[in-house]
Amino acid sequence: METPKNARTELLRQIKEEVVHLLDSPLVLERKKNRVFPVIGEGNHNAGIMFIGEAPGKNEAATGRPFCGAAGKVLDDLLQSAGIERKDVYITNIVKDRPPLNRDPSPDEIALYAPFLERQINIIQPSVIVTLGRFSMRYIMEKFGLSEYQEGISRIHGKVFPAKAEYGNITIVPLLHPAVATYNADTKSLLTKDIQVLASLSLPKK
Ligand code: URA
Repeated sequence: METPKNARTELLRQIKEEVVHLLDSPLVLERKKNRVFPVIGEGNHNAGIMFIGEAPGKNEAATGRPFCGAAGKVLDDLLQSAGIERKDVYITNIVKDRPPLNRDPSPDEIALYAPFLERQINIIQPSVIVTLGRFSMRYIMEKFGLSEYQEGISRIHGKVFPAKAEYGNITIVPLLHPAVATYNADTKSLLTKDIQVLASLSLPKK
């Protein structure tokens, strides 16, 4: 069943509260030590498209906003190239606190934060989930029973995978991580080509 709009905002606020007060993660200790912020997510609580990245980087932890640094600039360019406004989508990460020196998140860290992501998905109920990079791709493909298609991101980026969420049919689109495009122009061309697939997906009115 669809969650009413104001109820969504309240449920998302509760997630933020819980992440802020998490006790048992080394990443939370890092966050407190460095006096930075968790990054919960940002955008339209009624969005038809949800983008899921990996984890906050330095700029994101400093501001509490997802994709606001160099990778965010690439994401903004990509959205613009596909005629999508950032304010219309919801953007989040699988891991909500910054791993030191932007190292890869560990399986334990993913397991700790993933339940928050799952709740965000079920609250916002997007029709399209776009994963950015291999960590969110692996997690989401597995969660939606698509493990058999996991051939490595270099083989499946830009492809469209129909799946079933608790609230209805969805489409999953794995993309390369925009951060790679900050040092590799070929990746930016690939990403620009891949993201155009979103224009061909019809989003039901919510
Ligand atoms: N990279 C990510 O995966 N997420 C962000 O929010 C920023 C950079």
